[in-house]
Amino acid sequence: MAGKKIIAVVGATGAQGGGLVRAILADKGSAFTPRALTRNVNSEKAKALAAAGAEVVAVDLDDAASLGPAFAGAYGAFCVTNYWEHFSPERELQQAENLARVAKAAGLEHVIWSTLEDTRKWMPLDDTRMPTLMGKYKVPHFDAKGEADHFFRDMGVPTTFLLTSFYWDNLIYFGSGPQRLPDGTLALTFPMGDKPLSAMAVEDIGKCAYGIFKRGREFIGKTIGIAGGHLTGSQMAAALSRALGKEIRYNAVTPEVYRGLGFPGAEDLGNMFQFKRDFNDYYCGVRNVEFARSLNPELQSFEQWLDKHKDQIPLP
Ligand SMILES: NC(=O)c1ccc[n+]([C@@H]2O[C@H](COP(=O)([O-])OP(=O)(O)OC[C@H]3O[C@@H](n4cnc5c(N)ncnc54)[C@H](OP(=O)(O)O)[C@@H]3O)[C@@H](O)[C@H]2O)c1
Repeated sequence: MAGKKIIAVVGATGAQGGGLVRAILADKGSAFTPRALTRNVNSEKAKALAAAGAEVVAVDLDDAASLGPAFAGAYGAFCVTNYWEHFSPERELQQAENLARVAKAAGLEHVIWSTLEDTRKWMPLDDTRMPTLMGKYKVPHFDAKGEADHFFRDMGVPTTFLLTSFYWDNLIYFGSGPQRLPDGTLALTFPMGDKPLSAMAVEDIGKCAYGIFKRGREFIGKTIGIAGGHLTGSQMAAALSRALGKEIRYNAVTPEVYRGLGFPGAEDLGNMFQFKRDFNDYYCGVRNVEFARSLNPELQSFEQWLDKHKDQIPLP
């Protein structure tokens, strides 16, 4: 490890950060070494990271004081917050502020902030096309991340703002996979109409982040987007049908219907899909697949992701 630059990785036991830790460890000649941050250094995932060669350090994003030792002596940090653990934009904002403040105090040379759009810049609160949620958000889990960008900018943290994409892995872990409709058919349900959905294998987010660190200062101060593909619901359903050997159709519901599905976060996600549908040229345009491949030559297409993961997709 001597002489290697330390990258402190928030969310190292999770999907985005885990991908980055694995990408650094897989590159034996890397100039970097990962410091995996977790609340529980004794979890199975944390122990596996330590066994694979990562330094593992305890941290709690809700406790800014715990971040000091976690960032001390590091060259850079990958910062991500997990909205879905608490469903609180205010808590996500506070965690991001803690990250920016401690990154500045620690003198980090390069931070990647895993962000998303503050959709209120496109869809102000008085725009009635979609409901306002929690009093001051359109897409709470997007808006809080985008709003939090200013902490990094205002505090002068050398930051690359990384716009991520919908994970194809949501088909496995987030309840976004095929469901059986009342008529008995299997269908993928999204309120995207005929517009494409920017998406990617979550493992590729970490690999792209590694590519960003390897490019030095090139993207500091910039907002960059990544995706593995832009597929319509029909194209995704066709690829799923081929991979699974079962007929799966695309069930294009309206955002109103999606918001009313009743699961936790349905309104937030309904608004999110509507934002992606209604501002589709912007949304897909800023998430360039070839650019992502230049950061990560192993970037997977949906078909490649399906080849690896099709057996994990739960079918009703
Ligand atoms: N699903 C999608 O399609 C998608 C697309 C783009 C962006 N996102 C965003 O991605 C974020 C989640 O990232 P992910 O999918 O990589 O998460 P994940 O796999 O669910 O893992 C969450 C990670 O966050 C860490 N963590 C959570 N709270 C923490 C705290 N208070 N202090 C320290 N660490 C904490 C956990 O570490 P320990 O438990 O080990 O402490 C874990 O490593 C969400 O905010 C979501 O909005 C999701």
